[in-house]
Amino acid sequence: MSRWSTLLMDEAQLGELASVPVSEVMCHAEVSNRANPTPTELYQRWERQQWSAEQLVLENDRETFVNGRIPPIIRTMIENSIATFIIGEYTGLDMLGPILTGSPDEEYSVFLGTQIADETRHTRAVFRLGAEVLGYDETPRNMLAQAWNKATSAHVELSLLETEIVRDLHKQPLNYGQWLQAVTLFHLITEGVLALVGQRVLVQGLRDIDLFPGVKSAFVAMCRDESRHVGFGLHALRTGIREGYSDEIYEVLEKAVPLVMRLDNEFEGIATDFSDMSKSILRRHLKGIGADPAFVEKLLSGYNAPNGS
Ligand SMILES: [Fe+2]
Ligand SMILES: [Fe+2]
Repeated sequence: MSRWSTLLMDEAQLGELASVPVSEVMCHAEVSNRANPTPTELYQRWERQQWSAEQLVLENDRETFVNGRIPPIIRTMIENSIATFIIGEYTGLDMLGPILTGSPDEEYSVFLGTQIADETRHTRAVFRLGAEVLGYDETPRNMLAQAWNKATSAHVELSLLETEIVRDLHKQPLNYGQWLQAVTLFHLITEGVLALVGQRVLVQGLRDIDLFPGVKSAFVAMCRDESRHVGFGLHALRTGIREGYSDEIYEVLEKAVPLVMRLDNEFEGIATDFSDMSKSILRRHLKGIGADPAFVEKLLSGYNAPNGS
């Protein structure tokens, strides 16, 4: 690992990602999006941050998962995280087609092309983790069914909401309000809160265990990609709000945020600060897109949301 610099996580190669300090991973999305990067700047970052799902080395991880003396809670956390991401990455790949088709801007389209490549790579990476670490059936269709059985009821409802929003966008691909609704659910909620928190909880949970280098590398690499995807979502939604589409965006948030909070409860026991992390991130994102502070207060009231900085 090279010496510390502010660019550590941005510049790390695949073989170095497992040793990126957890503190870097935890704040990467916030730090790298602080300057509100444009879609073209995010594209340029993407060109510098390529990695290979095929080159992940997983043999030792499998051996540890099956025979290692690791606390049961860690084993559960690894299995639940991988199973959740098997569904999440594949669903994400599926959703991005209509989002690219309905893109309202040329610069957006160029960025969204990179995101489809990323989600393809993420899907392949988690399929490999499912088959080679957890021992799931390697046929994607069977593996998805196996992972789906681990999904909680809030997850199922969130997936149904995603399907509904994507179906509406499919019917009217050039309806900008509907496009913003899909971006709100996918980029802001699914990626900007659930994926970021899920990846961070796993990376943090494995912090003190000098094991699972393959799982760690994959999740840190995905987390780094997620920062760009979230950065794009914040840019698109900030623009949408400026252009007068806040009602469309708020409508999705009102449906999705209670589900996020329920998901957090279902994860309690695996990681205690799950819901605090979600609320802080959500609050920061909503501020970042210029959401009305009164709406944000109402949306988060009742969840004891801490003030995210
Ligand atoms: Fe992804
Ligand atoms: Fe993503």
